[in-house]
Amino acid sequence: MEIRTVGVLGCGLMGSGIAQVAAGAGYKTIVREVNDSALQAGLGRVKKFLSDGVSKGKVTGEAQAATLGNLSGTTNTADLEDCDIVIEAIVENLDEKRAIYQAVEAAVRPDAIIASNTSSLCITELAAATKRPDRFGGLHFFNPVPLMKLVEVIRALTTSEETARTLTSFATSLGKEPIAAPDRPGFIVNRLLVPYLLDAIREYERGLGTIEDIDKGMKLGCGHPMGPFTLLDFVGLDTTYYIANIMFEEFREARFAPPPLLKRMVLAGYHGRKTKRGFYTYS
Ligand code: CAA
Ligand code: NAD
Repeated sequence: MEIRTVGVLGCGLMGSGIAQVAAGAGYKTIVREVNDSALQAGLGRVKKFLSDGVSKGKVTGEAQAATLGNLSGTTNTADLEDCDIVIEAIVENLDEKRAIYQAVEAAVRPDAIIASNTSSLCITELAAATKRPDRFGGLHFFNPVPLMKLVEVIRALTTSEETARTLTSFATSLGKEPIAAPDRPGFIVNRLLVPYLLDAIREYERGLGTIEDIDKGMKLGCGHPMGPFTLLDFVGLDTTYYIANIMFEEFREARFAPPPLLKRMVLAGYHGRKTKRGFYTYS
């Protein structure tokens, strides 16, 4: 199936990055947010990433203009009518995702593909919430989307061969490296990464070291680009908390359970960089 027009649901951390790479790869891209202020904040993130890229000599002025020329925003789901594929990147919540799929299906053609960027929800369950379970799959990008090369392609039990092929070649066309991952919570990467991040919080609570020293240890001792607390703030503590709950619910293993401190930080509104406060504070 040929993809010309891409829809993106949500213009938060991930949706803005996905919209940027789709528009940058030459697709007409339309991103949908819940209200104008969220939309402008998300589009502002794309503009800033591109202008920073130009300042660093990584993005040409022409590529910046072409990307922005291909990208538009809306708060109206009906505007997605021409999309050949819609990539959902809204909050990590099953009911919210189900609700938006209904609205999208009322707008798009029956042959359009819907893909979810969920970190941990069951792709088969999401697919079953639509009228096109064969044209639904997981397309899991990594943060920050414009810089991270990996995309996990996840087939629901119902995803057709053709849809899986289209999702894989679409990821490749964005300049990404696709891998096939199983429909199990966390797929491949988060299955290994999330217990590590949760463990860092648990061990910090038990007095392993300061946040700064634990980060420095993993950065300088293991060559990780970010220590676990910097990465937690980067991913979002709210998102990490939702992912942990979903993984724990499926596996019932203690290593996936959200530590008490994480829960309390989320309840306090300390969601990491996006709220300017998490394990670190940001100006
Ligand atoms: N436009 C274009 N290129 C840019 C750019 C921009 N705005 N900003 C930076 N770059 C380029 C830089 O020029 C640099 O390129 P070179 O390597 O060619 O020099 C490269 O990107 C790295 O940038 P920086 O040197 O400025 O920054 P850094 O070295 O600190 O790297 C990072 C930043 C890539 C984010 C790195 O810190 C990193 O990899 N962090 C870990 C991120 C991670 O683990 N993400 C996964 C999270 S989990 C997830 O996403 C799944 C989930 O479901 C939760
Ligand atoms: P985020 O909180 O930064 O952004 C979510 C955005 O979705 C918000 O701007 C919100 O206004 C918007 N939204 C909520 N309901 C909507 C709706 N009905 N229609 C349109 N927009 C809506 O979250 P995020 O970090 O971008 O995560 C989004 C999805 O991507 C989640 O499923 C998450 O698990 C997944 N994910 C996150 C990361 C990460 O590192 N943060 C990495 C990979 C995947």
